[in-house]
Amino acid sequence: MKLIFITGNLEKFLEAKKLLGEFGIRLEQADIEMTEPQSDTLEEVAEKCAEEALKKVGECFIIEDSGLFVNSLNCFPGVYSSYVYRKIGCEGILRLLTGSADRSAYFMTALAYSEPGNRIRFFTGRVEGNIATEQRGKSGFGYDPIYIPLGSNLTFAEMSTEEKNKFSHRSRALRTFASWFLSRHEEK
Ligand code: IMP
Repeated sequence: MKLIFITGNLEKFLEAKKLLGEFGIRLEQADIEMTEPQSDTLEEVAEKCAEEALKKVGECFIIEDSGLFVNSLNCFPGVYSSYVYRKIGCEGILRLLTGSADRSAYFMTALAYSEPGNRIRFFTGRVEGNIATEQRGKSGFGYDPIYIPLGSNLTFAEMSTEEKNKFSHRSRALRTFASWFLSRHEEK
């Protein structure tokens, strides 16, 4: 079974490819030109992206938007995670948390699935954890070097893709999606 993942982020693609491969879903990457819309929720961003992509892609695809929500910063950067990463990076988040006793934070993914002629479906995934006190690890991307999921002492950047997939927001959204996708396929 083949499916397209629309993303310009190779790391995201490789995580998803590995995970969906376990469900027998063969993922292909498509990187199409898009302006990321600003919205108040990840679901709205994923929906707008899916609607834009739908105009260009005539096959079944998934597309997602993720963000880091730091509790003591009122869930900042949240939907602005990409902009904030570009502006201040991991170091900036560490600086904002200097002296903070509460370093708890969650990652969320909103995943949209689209197929010709049907409404867009949404799947979410969330992981709780903490912001490390310093950057650790070389794997992954984005905020991975400063994020420690609950249940581990390692940052995402210290994990292999398989390990990150045991915990991550993206893998949780993808697993929910895969179960739904496969059960639906069996019904047909
Ligand atoms: P987007 O989903 O690509 O818009 O991601 C928003 C921001 O969060 C970007 O700066 C990403 O690098 C970062 N981000 C998204 N997912 C992850 C992840 O799994 N680990 C670390 N950073 C992430």
